[in-house]
Amino acid sequence: MPTIQLRTAIPGPKSKALAERRTKAVPRGLPHATPVYVARAEGSELEDVDGNHYIDFAGGIGCINVGHRSEAVLNAVRKQLDRFLHTCVQVTPYESYIRLAERLNELTPGKFSKKTLFVNSGAEAIENAVKIARAYTGRPAAIAFEDAFHGRTMLTLALTSKTHPYKSGFAPFPGDVYRVPYAYCYRCSYSLKYPSCDIFCARHLEDTFKRVVANEEVAAVIAEPVLGEGGFVVPPPEYFRVLLEVCRKHNILFIADEIQTGFGRTGTLFASERYGIEPDILVSAKSLGGGLPLAAITGRAEIMDAPEPGGLGGTFAGNPLSCEAALAVLDLFAREDLSARANELGEIFQERARKWQDRWPLIGDVRGLGAMQAIELVQSQEKREPAEEETKQIVQYCYEHGLIILTAGSYSNVIRLLMPLVITDEQMDEGLDVLEGALEAVCEKKGEVAQTV
Ligand SMILES: Cc1ncc(COP(=O)(O)O)c(C=O)c1O
Repeated sequence: MPTIQLRTAIPGPKSKALAERRTKAVPRGLPHATPVYVARAEGSELEDVDGNHYIDFAGGIGCINVGHRSEAVLNAVRKQLDRFLHTCVQVTPYESYIRLAERLNELTPGKFSKKTLFVNSGAEAIENAVKIARAYTGRPAAIAFEDAFHGRTMLTLALTSKTHPYKSGFAPFPGDVYRVPYAYCYRCSYSLKYPSCDIFCARHLEDTFKRVVANEEVAAVIAEPVLGEGGFVVPPPEYFRVLLEVCRKHNILFIADEIQTGFGRTGTLFASERYGIEPDILVSAKSLGGGLPLAAITGRAEIMDAPEPGGLGGTFAGNPLSCEAALAVLDLFAREDLSARANELGEIFQERARKWQDRWPLIGDVRGLGAMQAIELVQSQEKREPAEEETKQIVQYCYEHGLIILTAGSYSNVIRLLMPLVITDEQMDEGLDVLEGALEAVCEKKGEVAQTV
């Protein structure tokens, strides 16, 4: 039996009524990717308030790698519900916080001694990572990348690249943040080609120290191992090794933002493993909590201990329900090879998407690592002008036909996959069938005739 079952036109009457209330009660600055309101979720499936069933390729923006309402997570949370909800770890601490820190210290790349701090959100974790890096190095500056996304607080907006809708109207941002091009090979800022470029973009950091900010002023370089909101851009395999060599040479810390790439998404527990690198600080969030809010900053012990007592914390940071949920998530990864499943899902997608690319010039690039997969849509494969409008139409077709899927990219022309890693082969195929139908419909409307392959 197919997962997708649509009982009403989308959005249905109950979703429409909620949308009217929302317009009056909630600021327009908070966007929705779809106009449907959820009633329940299970595994890789969502049901809306009108009884329509969807396949979920969004996973709450990458937070549901272990699936909606994972039994293990629910059980752990239920047990904690019966013990206590909140005491504040800074007042009367609890064991689950310590155990989770120990587990992450063990599981993150690098055999050196580590410590972990928990906070509530990805942005808060990035803020803390930069605070800690500054406290340790005694240096003020941070270097971030074009197309990066690190959050919506003031410092993380300074680190974030995309102007509309994230940054516009919110300046001034905190200073001492500098931006350099990322290894976005499909749109190389230096118009070079890999591999003959010899990873010029990473080596060029040396130039930045001469022309933009002195190396002895830089506390940290911060990067996503695969760009998330920036369009699922996967740098060449040796990119981060070269980047880290430059950082090490100048005693600059490397912070990996694994908020979207973490917890199996790219085919290993952390994407840094795929590049063979050991970040000084690794920030994780999203799927860590299995659906509950939690973020972690894990780093070399001596770095993490740089701020004085009282310099770090937060009332709800590392709350007990989230810690228990995260421990259940890590147990699940230990028991079931969800990372291997991520690689299988990536292969299933790549096989189909490569055929789509041969058929439709709209698809400029197919890329991804593990189950972090995407297609970049362009007006023509030669000129690569972003196809933003077509991307919107595809996503709309998808939700109207039972698939929840997200866009990404600085040009809003990337369609990305963040389905739960527990999705079945049947659900994956059913979801990809809808996406294929969307591409077909939009290409037909655009007058792009499918090429016979
Ligand atoms: C790579 C990355 N960093 C930081 C963030 C911010 O996380 P949060 O929305 O939990 O503050 C996100 C959120 O999408 C992200 O993908």
